[in-house]
Amino acid sequence: MKLLVVGGGGREHAIIRSLKKNPDVTEIFALPGNGGIAEDATCIPIGATDIPKIVEFAVENAIDYAVVAPDDPLVLGCVDALEEKGIPCFGPNARAAIIEGSKAFSKNLMKKYGIPTAAYEIFSDLDAALAYLEDAPIPTVIKADGLALGKGVIIAQTREEAKAAVTDMMANAKFGKSGSTVVIEEFLTGPEVSVLAFTDGKTVRPMVSSMDHKRAGDGDTGLNTGGMGTIAPNPYYTEEIAKRCMEKIFRPTIRAMKKEKRTFKGCLYFGLMLTPNGPKVIEYNCRFGDPETQVVLPLLRSDLLTIMMACTNGTLAKTPVRFSKKHACCVIKASAGYPESYKKGYKLTMSDRAKKATFVAGAKLENGKLVTSGGRVTGTTAGRSSLEEAIAAAYRLSAGVKFANAFSRSDIGQRALEAKK
Ligand code: AMP
Ligand code: GLY
Repeated sequence: MKLLVVGGGGREHAIIRSLKKNPDVTEIFALPGNGGIAEDATCIPIGATDIPKIVEFAVENAIDYAVVAPDDPLVLGCVDALEEKGIPCFGPNARAAIIEGSKAFSKNLMKKYGIPTAAYEIFSDLDAALAYLEDAPIPTVIKADGLALGKGVIIAQTREEAKAAVTDMMANAKFGKSGSTVVIEEFLTGPEVSVLAFTDGKTVRPMVSSMDHKRAGDGDTGLNTGGMGTIAPNPYYTEEIAKRCMEKIFRPTIRAMKKEKRTFKGCLYFGLMLTPNGPKVIEYNCRFGDPETQVVLPLLRSDLLTIMMACTNGTLAKTPVRFSKKHACCVIKASAGYPESYKKGYKLTMSDRAKKATFVAGAKLENGKLVTSGGRVTGTTAGRSSLEEAIAAAYRLSAGVKFANAFSRSDIGQRALEAKK
């Protein structure tokens, strides 16, 4: 089978490594892929949002199955366009991807179907939003409606900060059109859990839970990033909580989308907060998480391609989805200055052992040698029988990944270890 994977980060590298394990796979094309992915797939320089070119490539190369991984092509209708040409895909169509594409949509969906989430108000008028903030409880959370590269969420600690944030979004177009509508919501507290789930629109199969580390600095300080590391499973996510989430959140969401004639097929990401009043949805993503995928897929024991095709064909109920009982830890190496400004073009080297454990996020090939091309450069994953061992091994292996001005957090997994005590 000839496969196509749209995207070019660490998440896509992890997906490709798992897909390769299926003996029926003869070739994988990554659009655009990256310098590290080039070891495992044929990279084609077509951007992940260039839908006409993606479709043209897929048709010309007689692609048997496509996996669309990032949010923007999903929201823009990449799956719709490929399916129109008869190419089966893993991923939601645009009507379903709106669950991530519009926070106003997802909040209204949760309200309509009684799915637990933070209380909220939606505004498209700046004066109304400012008036509301006069008496809103503080801290408060301001979210741009549309996709904003994970940066459209502001936790405002003061009323002034809250007003400045809505003004930036609504009047100064800080996030472009994404911020012309804003959601203002209740500030929740509690541990966060990421749960990725396979679904064919009827059956939902949660994967092993994970914990992201979003802040740039140790001890959860510094700016929000795309994620500096992950561990799985998440110790806060007990069997009892998992059962409750299945009943109150996962199944109701899948049923709600079907009822709205927006049947969701693919990977649905539940960003949850375990509040004193029970688990609540912080966000939905219409795709695999990054870097959650880099710890979740290495623990998958069943065949990824078989599961993905079952999601497409509506046969997930009779397809095994099994995970190892091991623990995994992924440590990201980023370029100094990330997530703000950072330099690119540093020579990247990896020891043989490190390379096998590393998913490349931001590097390209120059004269056959890897050089950095992004803020997050690599993610190194280890799976072991205990969390302690997985963390130690991930850091040991990550030491074999080298480039100038690299930085990692030194405490990935520490909060999870404390939770276990
Ligand atoms: P998001 O980009 O939606 O993942 O949000 C970024 C981060 O903001 C989340 O991981 C949470 O830590 C935090 N966050 C979002 N919504 C809330 C909320 N209602 N209460 C408290 N924290 C929140
Ligand atoms: N790691 C968070 C996300 O993928 O949105």
